[in-house]
Amino acid sequence: MYESRRVVTVRTERKFRRYADWVEPKCELYATLSRATAEDRRLLEIAREARPEQPEPELLLAAVHSLLLDGKEHRLRAFYPSCAGTPPEDSPVSSFRDFCLTYETELRRIIRTRRCQTNDVGRSAVLRPAFEHVANTTGAETVAQLEIGTSAGLNLNWDRYQYDFAGVGSFGDTDSPVTIQTTVRGETRPPLSQSVPTVKHRCGVDLNVLDVTDEADARWLHALVHPNQHRRHERLAGAIEIGREHRHQLIEGDVIEELPRMLSTAPDDIPLIVFSTHVLYQLPEETIAELRAIISCHSSTQPVHWLSIDPEEALSDPTYRWVQFDDGVVKETQLATFESYGTWLNWSGARGVQN
Ligand SMILES: C[S@@+](CC[C@H](N)C(=O)[O-])C[C@H]1O[C@@H](n2cnc3c(N)ncnc32)[C@H](O)[C@@H]1O
Repeated sequence: MYESRRVVTVRTERKFRRYADWVEPKCELYATLSRATAEDRRLLEIAREARPEQPEPELLLAAVHSLLLDGKEHRLRAFYPSCAGTPPEDSPVSSFRDFCLTYETELRRIIRTRRCQTNDVGRSAVLRPAFEHVANTTGAETVAQLEIGTSAGLNLNWDRYQYDFAGVGSFGDTDSPVTIQTTVRGETRPPLSQSVPTVKHRCGVDLNVLDVTDEADARWLHALVHPNQHRRHERLAGAIEIGREHRHQLIEGDVIEELPRMLSTAPDDIPLIVFSTHVLYQLPEETIAELRAIISCHSSTQPVHWLSIDPEEALSDPTYRWVQFDDGVVKETQLATFESYGTWLNWSGARGVQN
C-alpha cells in the first residue's frame, strides 16, 4: 500500500521521541540527540535509509558512534565519553547535526547495510543459573548448546566469564577478562555453584553473523553500546578477546531454515539446550510457532531444553523460561525476570507456567 512521505516521516519522528523517553535514564546524550532528530527533517531523512524492519533511532545513533570510534575528527567527539574525556557543558545538538551532514554519505551507507544486533554478555547473568538449573534437574555433567540469534556468538561463552552476584558470591573463571556484576533481587537464591556443566558443543545461528576477528564488525558491536556505559564497553572488549580465542561454528541464515540441521548434527548422547536472549521479539508469531514445531519434532529423537525470553513480554524486565520438549510432550517453567543488560536478576524458583 502506498504511504505518503509525510506519513512515513511522522512515524519515524514518533520512533525517535519514544526512543528518547526509553533511553533517557540510561544515556542523557542519546535522549537529547533523539529529540533533536525528531524535529529535524534532514536528519530524519538520513535515518530513514534503514531497512523497514530495523529501528531508525538505534541505527542512526550507532552509525554516528561507529564513525567516531573509527577516528573521525569532529567537535562532536568531545560529547562522547567513549571517544574523549569529560563532555562539555553546552548542547551537543548543533555539533551532531553538522557531523551528520558532513558524513551523510558514509552514514547512509552504514544505516542501509547494518542491523541493530547488540550482543550483550550481561545477559549471561541469566544463562549461568539457567544452565545450572537444567543440569541439576537432568543430572547432566555435560551439555550441548545451540544459540538462536547469536549475533557475534558472545553469549555462547557464558561459562568463560566471571560473575559477581551481589549478596550471593563470585563464580566462574577468575582469570576471565569479563566480569558480570549482577544484583540478586527477591527471596529465592538462584542456583549458583562453582561447578557448571561442561559445554561439549557450541553452535549459533543469525541472519547476519558478526565476526569478532573483523575490526569493522567489532567496532559495530561497540557502536551499538551507549557511549557513556564504560562498564559495558569494557565487558564487550573482554568478550571479543575471548571470542577471538575460542572460535565456534556460527551459521549465517534464518533460524527456521538452519535449525533442523543444527539439531540433527548436535551430539545426541548429552542434554541439548537451545537458547536465545532478546531475539523472539523480532520474530512474527507464526515463526515462533514454527520454531516450536521444529524443536518438538526433534524431541522424538532426543529431549530438547529451550531457554528463552517469554515472547509475549515487553522487552524491559524480560522473563526467562525453560521449555522442555520430550517426545512431543511440552512442559514450560518460568525461571527468572532480569534486567536486559544483566544488572539485576530475580530468580523465581522454577515456577510452573500454565499453557
Ligand atoms: C537484539 S539482537 C540480540 C543478540 C544476542 N542474542 C544478545 O542478546 O546479545 C537479535 C539478533 O537476532 C537475530 N535474528 C533476528 N531474526 C532472526 C532469524 N529469523 N534467524 C536468525 N537470527 C535472527 C538478529 O540478526 C540479531 O542479531
